[in-house]
Amino acid sequence: MMPQPYHESNHPALYYQGMLSDNRRMERYREAIFATVSPGDIVVDLGTGLGVLAMFAVQAGAARVYAVDVRSNVLPITRRLIESNGMSAQIILIEGDATEVELPEPVDLIINELIGDFGTDENIQECVAAISRRYLRPGGKVLPRKLSTHIVGVSYDQEFRGVYSGDFHGMNMAAALLDEFKPAPVMVGLQRTPVELTERATLENIHFENDSQPREYTASTQLNVLKAGELQGFVGYFVCELAAGIQLDNYPCYAGCHWVNWHWPVTPAIPLQQGQCIQGELTMPQRTTAPCWNWQWQLESA
Ligand SMILES: C[S@@+](CC[C@H](N)C(=O)[O-])C[C@H]1O[C@@H](n2cnc3c(N)ncnc32)[C@H](O)[C@@H]1O
Repeated sequence: MMPQPYHESNHPALYYQGMLSDNRRMERYREAIFATVSPGDIVVDLGTGLGVLAMFAVQAGAARVYAVDVRSNVLPITRRLIESNGMSAQIILIEGDATEVELPEPVDLIINELIGDFGTDENIQECVAAISRRYLRPGGKVLPRKLSTHIVGVSYDQEFRGVYSGDFHGMNMAAALLDEFKPAPVMVGLQRTPVELTERATLENIHFENDSQPREYTASTQLNVLKAGELQGFVGYFVCELAAGIQLDNYPCYAGCHWVNWHWPVTPAIPLQQGQCIQGELTMPQRTTAPCWNWQWQLESA
């Protein structure tokens, strides 16, 4: 077997460089943390990584931050960073899984960046619910506040799968995708909004400060066809409200965005007519870090 190249560095700190160099992510988190932390707050940071959100919370006036991560090999580096930034008195590092970890006291605020490429595919809901049930003070806050996930049926234009339709540098590549084939989902960040043929449907809509219901692992939805065209695939993405008026999303992926999109390619492409509708169901495995979510759909006539 050919050796597989590393997709990300095997240095425990370099694993985080893509996230840290996503400037929009860092700036919006900083803004949201400064808008949410009150002086003297007790905070927990779930999935602290190199501790950057915990350090923002201290800069914003938190009295103490419990910084939790399950990845044991990064925590010595995080400790060094916290020391070199003079915050060892305020930040207490805890190794553990956020769904099980014990905290020494209740907290005023839960912060995290456990946002997956498809929103909930890094177990954000399970981690926040487990801590919030046991440790969030009445009236306490959660950052991000809200997270929704969406799917839309598209033609890709000249990007991603779109290279197989229309003029391609003076050639026509459509014959490449004529076979009946059911491709696996693909994770690629779109740089531009594709041609949307259906409405954007919502699959999950979580308000972390209010939702205490157990999570559903199947979401059914209907996508009404808005425009005639060739259905080449479905794109999945998230929209996240960090704090009031401060949002992050990955559709399309902005410059420097480290998140990608989920795609379910349709091969061969099928023609859609306005007025038709697509019934779909997304099935999500519980608690996974290597998610493979299953999108099943069928087209219904008008
Ligand atoms: C997307 S990174 C974010 C790191 C850092 N908070 C930041 O914003 O740069 C997610 C981090 O959460 C940690 N993590 C994932 N699942 C976890 C869990 N169930 N409990 C604790 N930490 C977890 C990972 O090890 C990783 O360090």
